[in-house]
Amino acid sequence: MKIGIFDSGFGGLNIMKSIVQTMPQYDYVYLGDTARTPYGTRSQETILEYTKEAVDFLFKQDCSLIILACNTASAEALSKIQKECLPQTYSDKNVLGVIIPACEKAVEISKNKNIGIIATSSSVQSETFPREIKKLDTNTNIFQNACPLLVPIVEAGENDIEIINKVLSNYLNPLIDQNIDTLILGCTHYGLLEKEIKDILDKSGKKIMIVSEGPVVAEKLKDYLSKHAEFSNKLSKNSSRLFFTTDLTDSFEKLGGLFFGEKIKVDKIHL
Ligand code: DGL
Repeated sequence: MKIGIFDSGFGGLNIMKSIVQTMPQYDYVYLGDTARTPYGTRSQETILEYTKEAVDFLFKQDCSLIILACNTASAEALSKIQKECLPQTYSDKNVLGVIIPACEKAVEISKNKNIGIIATSSSVQSETFPREIKKLDTNTNIFQNACPLLVPIVEAGENDIEIINKVLSNYLNPLIDQNIDTLILGCTHYGLLEKEIKDILDKSGKKIMIVSEGPVVAEKLKDYLSKHAEFSNKLSKNSSRLFFTTDLTDSFEKLGGLFFGEKIKVDKIHL
């Protein structure tokens, strides 16, 4: 059995990169719904419908455990899939997301309990990050900011630092002003802007820690597998990686390499 990783597009490859670096022995299947990306501006109903289709596909690919590497899908679809689909159709399988691990890490490291989040519009509107953080610690102050321009900037391969800094500063300054000491990068793509984000936070003169999802999700998944032998014992260990997308353009192989860190071969499927 394999580990499935799902994202609305390329971004999840960045999360997969960290997971594969941490646990290279397992077999992985990646699915990016590139024909229907982005999810971050869609309705909850649509995101749930698309994510269910992706989960069905990955379970049919012999996956026993799926990581929704997409924050938007984790925010809008994960709990419904866990409550409704798993018990009915896939009782011996599980689906996990990226939001809870990120929130756990933020609560763990924040000292002043002022936590900032940047994410897609849909993730912010869903209030999933604040809800999960409050479940862990009711004494936290949470400040979110939707950053709709960041996904297009990353996907366009924008490298004009002035443009990047201007956009980032607009999104980050209101959070810096709230005296946050921890910032969650709540979207698959933001890890690729981590250096630029860190520079802006550092320049503010305040000490603000960054929670970047790739390493955090990899660490939490390793911990999960060590505690759930019913999954880890079933996982095959041939270090294989399969990559599927719902649309194939030149950019996937190019951006895919950028997000995953090495050249990948992709097959197109229909959901
Ligand atoms: N993968 C999405 C996320 O992490 C970003 C791209 C999209 O909006 O589909 O929220």
